Amino acid sequence: TDLAHIRNFSIVAHIDHGKSTLADRLIQSTNTVAERDMKEQLLDSMDIERERGITIKANTVRIDYVAQNGETYVLNLIDTPGHVDFAYEVSRSMRAVEGSLLVVDSTQGVEAQTLANVYQAIDANHEIVPVLNKIDLPASEPERVKEQIEDVIGIDASDAMLVSAKSGIGIPETLEAIVQRLPAPKGDRAAPLKAMLVDSWYDSYLGVIVLVRIMDGVLKKNDRVKFMSNGTIHQVDRIGVFRPAMQPVDELGPGEIGFITASIKQVRDTRVGDTITHEKKGADTPLPGFKPSQPVVFCGLFPVDSAEFEDLRDAIEKLALNDASFSFEMETSAALGFGFRCGFLGLLHLEVIRDRIEREYNIDLITTAPSVIYHIYMRDGELIELHNPADMPDLSKVDHLEEPRIKATILVPDEYLGDVLKLCQDRRGIQMDLTYAGTRAMVVYDLPLNEVVFDFYDRLKSVTKGYASFDYQLTGYRQDNLVKMSILVNDEPVDALSTMVHRDRAEMRGRAMCEKLKDLIPRHMFKIPIQAAIGGKVIARETLAALRKDVTAKCYGGDATRKRKLLDKQKAGKKKMRQFGKVDIPQEAFISALKMD
Ligand code: GTP
Repeated sequence: TDLAHIRNFSIVAHIDHGKSTLADRLIQSTNTVAERDMKEQLLDSMDIERERGITIKANTVRIDYVAQNGETYVLNLIDTPGHVDFAYEVSRSMRAVEGSLLVVDSTQGVEAQTLANVYQAIDANHEIVPVLNKIDLPASEPERVKEQIEDVIGIDASDAMLVSAKSGIGIPETLEAIVQRLPAPKGDRAAPLKAMLVDSWYDSYLGVIVLVRIMDGVLKKNDRVKFMSNGTIHQVDRIGVFRPAMQPVDELGPGEIGFITASIKQVRDTRVGDTITHEKKGADTPLPGFKPSQPVVFCGLFPVDSAEFEDLRDAIEKLALNDASFSFEMETSAALGFGFRCGFLGLLHLEVIRDRIEREYNIDLITTAPSVIYHIYMRDGELIELHNPADMPDLSKVDHLEEPRIKATILVPDEYLGDVLKLCQDRRGIQMDLTYAGTRAMVVYDLPLNEVVFDFYDRLKSVTKGYASFDYQLTGYRQDNLVKMSILVNDEPVDALSTMVHRDRAEMRGRAMCEKLKDLIPRHMFKIPIQAAIGGKVIARETLAALRKDVTAKCYGGDATRKRKLLDKQKAGKKKMRQFGKVDIPQEAFISALKMD
């Protein structure tokens, strides 16, 4: 296809504003898929994504569209991930296209994620077409939302498309706007090959599938190609496009988006943002701005039943094959035995992986406290990257400690602003900016990532009744007064509950954790002290009283089935507990103990 007849675009939207519905509708109305093959939410293929209503892996589709001028255009849609954890992947896929549809729910307005993603689109020099969705709803306020887009984002919204992705209103106009308003891609067919690796994933039949955008040159079947970030050479064995099913093509030229397979074994061998060129007569310099995405949140995953360790290894290895940003290494914990220290892009990423292990592989897990990477400057000048508070070196050898900080953007209706400011303040935040757009406030905070990885997002949702939206970016490292807090249960340290805390908050945190654990740990036949300590010094303490009566005693005289039920329930509960010395600690204690309310 010649460049003038190609349009490449992505859809930028906040969760639930209708990105998938719009994509489905664009595909359907151009007859890309036969009606009967049209599954709902075609682009969100994974179960978890569907269940949680979020799009994780970027997907793509090529649509043929006959425009009003009678000419046929190729429209390539790249579906970008919608969550903050995947900001880097979003930024790469933005570089692969020239324009964006900015979808805003016209009953809701602009949200923090819309902002973050639209700024990435602006950074990538996109032409942006605003689309006001859900105009079929009585609560739709297109004029107000147009104004808001202009005020908050600063782009012209006077020509915004008025759309109902659900009922199909405005879809033909939107297709026409894609052709008329978005620029055609540029590229040089005669130049050495430069293809951007936009995404990759594992397919059990075909192996690793690599999504590419050709910038310059031509890519053909059987070409020998080089991945410039690591110099590996592969032979292309399949080349094609998504419609959205895979369809082979002879070649991909400048401006085109498609896939290749090349006997690549693992997704880990491919890096989003990498440049692919020919082995011979290849490009000298890669496309600018490549950096592999790095895990920022770490936690331990341990099987509840230690006999399932090998199954867990198997599950983790399989998941890692398909996810280059998920890292793992074996870990032994005095308390939990054998498990894995795993690295994630963020908390959502952590939750998704943990859920998949539990659900798809049927392994009950204990998840230890999530931690960020601390930089520890030793007195002898060495710099240690600490991923696990349990590995904290001897304090006398430590000069100082730095922690990662983020810039958080929160959009919230006026009436909840006070609560949001308090929450940020409580989490050691420094206010950077506060502005208004209509009745909504936009606050920008500088926060320590460690205060956010845990339950910040949950707390934010609860204090704002779900009306706030949140987005963040890592900004760098800063020194602070941080210490390792250990938890002792029945005088035994439980390493999996160690956390890094700010010195000024250690007492408060320690007390809260001991109280929580006291509620979470079932009573035993003996008294159990629960303590928080820094170094050797106990800073908080609770005592769990001993159990006296038989649990079935209260069913005394009751019928036998009830009694059996109670015992069964106890047994089921037992399975999800681990023994620490003589004490059984239930699975949920490891996560719940850290939540602050
Ligand atoms: P993520 O995939 O989670 O990012 O969400 P999304 O932005 O793709 O939203 P999705 O398309 O899943 O739509 C969210 C909800 O809004 C669904 O329940 C849709 O049925 C509904 N919806 C989408 N478009 C419209 C519309 O035009 N009108 C109405 N009434 N509902 C819509």
